[in-house]
Amino acid sequence: MSAPIKISPSILSADFSKLGEEIISLEKAGADYIHIDVMDGHFVPNITIGPEVIKRLRPVTKLTFDVHLMIAPVDPFIKDFAEAGADIITFHPEATEDISKTIKLIRSHGKKVGVSLKPLSPISLIENYLNEIDLILIMSVNPGFGGQKFMPEVLDKMKSLREIVEQKKLKVDIEIDGGINFDNSKKAKDFGANILVSGSTVFKENGGNLQKNIQLLRTN
Ligand code: DX5
Ligand code: ZN
Repeated sequence: MSAPIKISPSILSADFSKLGEEIISLEKAGADYIHIDVMDGHFVPNITIGPEVIKRLRPVTKLTFDVHLMIAPVDPFIKDFAEAGADIITFHPEATEDISKTIKLIRSHGKKVGVSLKPLSPISLIENYLNEIDLILIMSVNPGFGGQKFMPEVLDKMKSLREIVEQKKLKVDIEIDGGINFDNSKKAKDFGANILVSGSTVFKENGGNLQKNIQLLRTN
């Protein structure tokens, strides 16, 4: 928690008719990462964007593309997302038959590895892999849509993970995703998150003042 807080705005709440411009605006407004939600209509009940869109967006910024794959099976698409320009590739353990194999596959493309837990997914699903990954993504809503209400019941799970990470001296980031706003951002950090994802708060609060919203999430 001594690591500086990073803000990873989710472009799910951006204007999809001008995604490139939106990303440039996020960079100017002080975003650390760009969170890209990929949904397949199968693992989650919604469909968003695929590797081709990420590839087209890649030249507009040098910011880290924090790609959250909500697709199953995930392995057949890792190569495409890696080549499209993802920097961190995060998957859900339920989306693969062999977690270790998926981690190695992402690594083989030289990318950082994230593993995500849905609100009801237990720590035990990923506990054995913590020394092989770079990031844990804690979902604080059920994945599928932006603009949902934060689920405070995931905080204790996140705190336990932070304790394990500290105790084992692992270099693993803990990112929280879903319903983050100015009221719960402090609590999210206190319970161990060092990266905050935010879609609706960043794009919609304060008349869409990206800079102000990113700053408030960082410092609140
Ligand atoms: C939900 C996505 C989130 C979502 C966050 O399935 O993984 O990244 O876009 O959006 P807000 O901040 O609006 O909850
Ligand atoms: Zn996400």
